Amino acid sequence: MSVAVYPGSFDPITFGHLDVICRAAAVFDRLIVGVLTNPRKAAQLDGTSRTAIIRRAIDEDLPDVATRVEIASFDGLTVDFARRQSARFVVRGLRAVSDFESELQMAHFNRKLAPEIDTVFFMTSLEYAYLSSSLVREIARFGGDVSRMVPAAVAGRLGTGTPVG
Ligand code: PNS
Repeated sequence: MSVAVYPGSFDPITFGHLDVICRAAAVFDRLIVGVLTNPRKAAQLDGTSRTAIIRRAIDEDLPDVATRVEIASFDGLTVDFARRQSARFVVRGLRAVSDFESELQMAHFNRKLAPEIDTVFFMTSLEYAYLSSSLVREIARFGGDVSRMVPAAVAGRLGTGTPVG
């Protein structure tokens, strides 16, 4: 059975993340979305909220793959999380060339730390290539409409501007 983890901050999850989840779920038997709970910067939504929102978004928007996708929060190194999940693959999305340098560095670091784990990149679909969680947060904070950028499960959870986790 091929098992992959898809780690990230998901603060909040966007349609770009869902696109990567959908496509990765078609490749791997089991996909675990890993929600990082201790990022260096404070998250707008706490780990429990992000996990619940992602579960709802996948169940509502990706019903065909929902049973093969799990959500787990994690703390610490991605490779340790992957090992705990018995995953041999780390999934990441690439939106543009600008993502490449940092993602390449992270993939090399992770491979040094865990040579048995490979990083697999999915090119985010063109229609979502402009999306980023930080810009979605900013737009929501100033009252902009983010309904075409994030799943309905996220709606109403943004815009307070108060970091909670
Ligand atoms: O959604 P993001 O913020 O781009 O995700 C970044 C993430 C969570 C994948 C990365 O920061 C990470 O793996 N953090 C866990 C700590 C770790 O393993 N650091 C070493 C990476 S080389």
